[in-house]
Amino acid sequence: MDKQRFTPTPMQRVFRYSTAQCQKSIGRVVLPISLALGCAIASAETTNSAIAAGEAKSAVCRSCHGAEGITTNPAWPNLAGQNKRYLENQLKRFRDGGREDPVMSAMAAPLSDEDIANLSAYYSNLAQ
Ligand code: HEC
Repeated sequence: MDKQRFTPTPMQRVFRYSTAQCQKSIGRVVLPISLALGCAIASAETTNSAIAAGEAKSAVCRSCHGAEGITTNPAWPNLAGQNKRYLENQLKRFRDGGREDPVMSAMAAPLSDEDIANLSAYYSNLAQ
């Protein structure tokens, strides 16, 4: 038995071609935009949730470093607005023994990498 072949009319060819082109260009434009938007939203959410988590974990730090990361006691450094990476590095050094202080080494000892990232996000985000 012969298979029936579908032979498109010229109009159908044009229509198919333009639909395919249109889908391609929509893909080219819309996909990167939605990817970029998605990424921007995702990273903003991560940062906000890190800051919120850091604020919650900072309860124990406030007695020395102040409610907003600013302290009036010259023995305790201000943390508000300090560079995030610097804060992370210092907390890891206290925790891992690279920097020693009787108070801070003990404070940093139980902190996980995530705690440190959250606390640093919180303090670096406060106004100096
Ligand atoms: C009992 C008081 C006290 C508490 C509570 C405390 N700290 Fe500290 N913190 C200090 C002192 C004192 C120093 C300065 C240490 C030194 O001279 O090396 C310091 C230093 C730091 C530094 C280094 C700052 C710099 O400029 O290098 C960071 C970061 C820090 N603390 C974060 C925290 C975090 C986060 C918490 C809560 C988990 C916390 N501290 C709890 C007293 C405290």
